[in-house]
Amino acid sequence: MLNLIIFGPPGSGKGTQSNNIIKKYGVQHISTGDLLRDEIRSGSELGKQISLLIDGGNLVPDEMVKTMVEDFITKNQAGNGFIFDGFPRTVNQAQWLRNLLATLGSEIKVMISLEVDDQELKKRLAGRGKELGRPDDQDDEIIRNRLEIYHTRTKVVKDFYRKLDKHIPIQGIGTMEEVFERICTAIDK
Ligand code: C5P
Ligand code: MG
Repeated sequence: MLNLIIFGPPGSGKGTQSNNIIKKYGVQHISTGDLLRDEIRSGSELGKQISLLIDGGNLVPDEMVKTMVEDFITKNQAGNGFIFDGFPRTVNQAQWLRNLLATLGSEIKVMISLEVDDQELKKRLAGRGKELGRPDDQDDEIIRNRLEIYHTRTKVVKDFYRKLDKHIPIQGIGTMEEVFERICTAIDK
C-alpha cells in the first residue's frame, strides 16, 4: 500500500495536485473537506453543525473527522492506498492516523508539504471564491481566520512527520505542471 499525505495551507493546491497524484499512482483520494461538504449537502443534523463550523472557517472537532476518515478507509480497502488531502489537520489527528494505519499493517510513506506564502494564498482563495462559490472562500475575514488556524494549529503537523523523517517540503508556486513535477520527483525517491 502506498499512503501519502498532501499537506499545506488552504489554497496551496492540495485538491488540484491530488487529482494528478491519483491518476499517476493509482491511489484513492480522501479529501476530508469534500467529505464534510457532502455531509452538509445531505441536509443531515450533523451536516448543519458542520456547516456552522466550516462556513466560519473553523475546524471540525477531531473526533468527528476521525470517524469520517475511519469510515471511508473501512469501505475502500480494495485499492492501492490513499492520498490524504486536508487531513491530518491537528497533531491529535496525525497520531490517531498513525495508530489506525498500524492496525492495518501500513503507514504513511511521505508527507508532501506545499509551501505557499499568505499573500499568494489570499489572492488564490478570493479567486476561487468567485469561481466556485465556496462560502468560506468569499469573505476576507473568514479567509484570514482559516490562515490563522493553519498557522496556530495545523502547521505543527509538519514537525510530527519531520521527526519520523517523512516530511518533504515542495515549493507550491509555479504552474500546476511544474509543481506536479516536483511532487513526482519527491514521491519517486
Ligand atoms: O481541506 P479543505 O480546505 O477542503 O477543508 C475545508 C474546511 O473543512 C476547512 O476550512 C475546515 O473548516 C474543515 N476541515 C476540518 N478538518 C479537516 C478538514 C477540513 O475542520 N481535517
Ligand atoms: Mg481542498
